[in-house]
Amino acid sequence: MDSSKIILLGYMGSGKSIVGNQLAKTLSIKFIDLDRYIERAEGHNITEIFESKGELYFRAQERKYLKVLLKDSLPMVLSLGGGTPCYYDTMEYIQSLENLTSFYLNTDINTLVLRLLKEKATRPLIAHLENEDAVKEFIGKHLFERNRFYQQAHHQISTDQKSVETLVKDIKKKLS
Ligand code: S3P
Repeated sequence: MDSSKIILLGYMGSGKSIVGNQLAKTLSIKFIDLDRYIERAEGHNITEIFESKGELYFRAQERKYLKVLLKDSLPMVLSLGGGTPCYYDTMEYIQSLENLTSFYLNTDINTLVLRLLKEKATRPLIAHLENEDAVKEFIGKHLFERNRFYQQAHHQISTDQKSVETLVKDIKKKLS
């Protein structure tokens, strides 16, 4: 293994947290989910941060905590928020670091829509959307805008029809 930090990125609902957690376990290194880290550090959940301070504040905190974590010299698997790579020069910054490998978990839009419809209320970016069609349209446009950032990851892994175990194996194969 030539990489001390592994970053998972991709859209909301692509499985970054569940895959990251499992991957870290099999590698015996720590797992950090950036959203959960921000929630602990700020003492509020993501929805509350969006509501009380706004998205711009959230993006600035996201950036700040990402930098703190990437300065940590310990090996880790870090799963980013869906928007983390798409603000400021974050993707460039991530790619400039040594001993770090980034993976884009690429998930089919229909799967994302099905997963996110179930969690709509806790997702500030889509909570206001009224129905399935509106969610699908939003995600389609959003993915199109974000794709150019996600595509800059070192590796791309398609998650469709794959179990968490298979995805962990796929990632480990690319690391070896
Ligand atoms: C966001 C994704 C969320 C969270 C916030 C904004 C986004 O993270 O950071 O709701 O802009 O795509 P997950 O992708 O971990 O759900």
